[in-house]
Amino acid sequence: MSPNCFPWLLLVQLLLLHSANIAAKVPAIIIFGDSSVDAGNNNFIPTVARSNFEPYGRDFNGGQPTGRFCNGRLATDFISEGFGLLPAVPAYLDPKYTIKDFASGVCFASAGSGYDNATSDVLSVIPLWRELEYFKEFQKKLEDYQGKAKTRETISEALYIMSLGTNDFLENYYTVPGGRRTQYTVDEYQDFLVGIAEGFIRNLYRLGARKLDLTGIPPMGCLPLERVANPTSREACNEMYNRVAWNFNGKLKQLVNKLNRELSGMTIVYGDIYYLFLDVIKKPLTFGEFKKPFTATHSS
Ligand SMILES: *[C@@H]1O[C@H](CO)[C@@H](O)[C@H](O)[C@H]1NC(C)=O
Repeated sequence: MSPNCFPWLLLVQLLLLHSANIAAKVPAIIIFGDSSVDAGNNNFIPTVARSNFEPYGRDFNGGQPTGRFCNGRLATDFISEGFGLLPAVPAYLDPKYTIKDFASGVCFASAGSGYDNATSDVLSVIPLWRELEYFKEFQKKLEDYQGKAKTRETISEALYIMSLGTNDFLENYYTVPGGRRTQYTVDEYQDFLVGIAEGFIRNLYRLGARKLDLTGIPPMGCLPLERVANPTSREACNEMYNRVAWNFNGKLKQLVNKLNRELSGMTIVYGDIYYLFLDVIKKPLTFGEFKKPFTATHSS
């Protein structure tokens, strides 16, 4: 899992800038992915990949561990608020919410998930293909709730956000013995994942989506776990993992260019968090509250 909500905040501004051009109006935010965007779906499935306990959520409405892998709200929540929608996008599996709430924002993401089915198997979380099944179910409920015509409009004007991929490498490829690593070189595995991303986006397009942010992955060798487990230099970023992330992002960007050419009427933006994240690692003082990367000293 990649519990790194902070650099995402910076992405919000970028996205809002981009989206201002492509979106006259955004009636809903619809989210797919992993822990970087899971608003609490994993609380409602049998998995250990949960964050419904302290210190998670310590800044969420004065302290509520919601199942977000974050101290407070996720970037996607800020994006939603930025569009004048809900300040926190509800998790689809949370029974507290109904289609009335989901009509302007819904999160299908699941911490620990990935593009590869084998990744979601590791911690028994929601695979990406099932996130899409939930989206189809949501569309039907939305039609019942607000009618076919309005639903068609919501679906095509909504902003779709995808954020996943880190777990495919860290939780699966480099971790599961006798798994994908015996089948694919890392370069081949990247292509395999990009192929799944392509299929997923084409399905979204067929289902009516027209505005998508495809978020890349962070310099995952700088995640706290990878740093303390770094075999060559303790607490330094694992540069090999960072290279893998950088290469994978390059392939995602190519996919975005290709699909923007091929899917008429669709606008896809590549969401770059790699350099935003790296900036926080390299220049923590610029961001105020950090004395050393990942040793946060909360000043307030
Ligand atoms: C993942 O699993 C689903 C459901 O079994 C299947 O339809 C899909 O083809 C699988 N994806 C890949 C890339 O194998």
